[in-house]
Amino acid sequence: MRLTIRSRLTLWYTSAFFIVLILLLAVLLWELQHQLGNEARKVLQIEENWLSTFIDSEFLPLRTLAGEKYLNLAANLREELDERYGLKQQFVVLLIANHGANGKFSGGLKGADKFLASDFFLRRAGSYNVMIAERRYRVRLFRREWGTAAVGVENETLWRVAEETGEILIWLVPLSALFAIAGGWLMAKLALRPVVSAAQAAEAISMENLKERLPAYADNDEFGALVATLNRMVERLAEGVTRLQRFTQDAAHELRTPLTILRGDLELAYQDEKTPEETRVWVQKNLDRVITLGQIVDNLLLLARSDAGSYPINKTLFRFEVILREIFEDLQILAEERAVAVHLENGEPLEFYGDKLLIRRLLLNLCDNALKYTSQGHIALSLRQVGDVIEFIISDTGIGIPASDLPHIFDRFYRVDKSRASATGGSGLGLAICKWIVDAHNGTIAVTSEEMKGTTVRVTLPLSHPF
Ligand SMILES: Nc1ncnc2c1ncn2[C@@H]1O[C@H](COP(=O)(O)OP(=O)(O)O)[C@@H](O)[C@H]1O
Ligand SMILES: [Mg+2]
Repeated sequence: MRLTIRSRLTLWYTSAFFIVLILLLAVLLWELQHQLGNEARKVLQIEENWLSTFIDSEFLPLRTLAGEKYLNLAANLREELDERYGLKQQFVVLLIANHGANGKFSGGLKGADKFLASDFFLRRAGSYNVMIAERRYRVRLFRREWGTAAVGVENETLWRVAEETGEILIWLVPLSALFAIAGGWLMAKLALRPVVSAAQAAEAISMENLKERLPAYADNDEFGALVATLNRMVERLAEGVTRLQRFTQDAAHELRTPLTILRGDLELAYQDEKTPEETRVWVQKNLDRVITLGQIVDNLLLLARSDAGSYPINKTLFRFEVILREIFEDLQILAEERAVAVHLENGEPLEFYGDKLLIRRLLLNLCDNALKYTSQGHIALSLRQVGDVIEFIISDTGIGIPASDLPHIFDRFYRVDKSRASATGGSGLGLAICKWIVDAHNGTIAVTSEEMKGTTVRVTLPLSHPF
């Protein structure tokens, strides 16, 4: 069975509390026991010593005397014993051998000798607990050459203290156990409250409701950090979802306009009578449109796959300048149609390790832009190696980009002037794709531009050889 964290915390807390409590009680009881024993032992030791010297010094004749003299000395001893023990919670019983018989002398507690079992004096010397008149006595039995002696000291009060302490403790243990369980349960509840409320709040967060956040938990503790981390995660997810939604909308919008135009044209063509020549031109025009649509779909697919991280980047070693030269030649042909000159500087041989198709696409997109947005002047391409990076620069003398638009030109679907862009047949995805390709090769891309003067794009790509 899986216990909840709350039950587990309570269990741990209570067990720990219990172990400490029991240990504490054990030490306490042991110490008490020890002290009680010590107290009685000290008193009895003193009495043993006193009795020994007392009898040795004055009453040894009791063993040998007889008749009147014996009785006198015995009476004397009884008197002395009563004097010493009468007022104390103590007693003494002496067995003194005289001519083969034992004379019994006692002092203190009345009739103490009768309370001692008849065979008590036959036991081994030592200390015993004895009950007399419902009171507890500690009795020490010892032997000297004159006979056997038993000294007792009342132990009752000390035992009471011990017993009562024990009784209190017996109540204390279950009581404190109850407190510990209740306290632990409550503490765990308080400690876990933010988790419960965070879980409830998390329930409300969904794709449709990404504005929702976990309740900010002010305390600067582990839960506070967790909630803050989770909120940042939701923030990132929300941004991602918003971006995705915008991308989908933009993509749909981007496809819709050319499709609408195409449809209108097709409907018209259905009604119109056309000469074969007109039909040829018409078909060519719409074929171009379909090709453009295909390119947009290609670009969208590429970006979608790059987002998902599923675009297979296929790096090989190839000659960078060869690809650039091919594109340059196409560019020259296209530029000839306008009054634009194209130069290539420094086309020196350069080995590069990367995805050949993507690099071609990068160069194509940049050249396409330069050509599209330049109606006169020239376009200059330059390629060189600086340290261990390739530097590719393309600059044009075109219409340029306003400074306020510069920070956005790498955004998807971003175009400086929508009307101008539709005339030039762009979709605003070219630079976004360039940025992704450069990132995939750990490079950099930067654009500087001046309106009506021209634009310069600088790309650097590190030469990362696979060996
Ligand atoms: N060489 C350039 N000269 C002027 N403007 C440019 C140039 N390159 C890019 N731009 C601007 O940046 C925008 C984004 O470029 P891009 O992502 O390639 O989209 P597009 O499909 O419009 O070419 C373009 O619409 C254009 O306004
Ligand atoms: Mg472009």
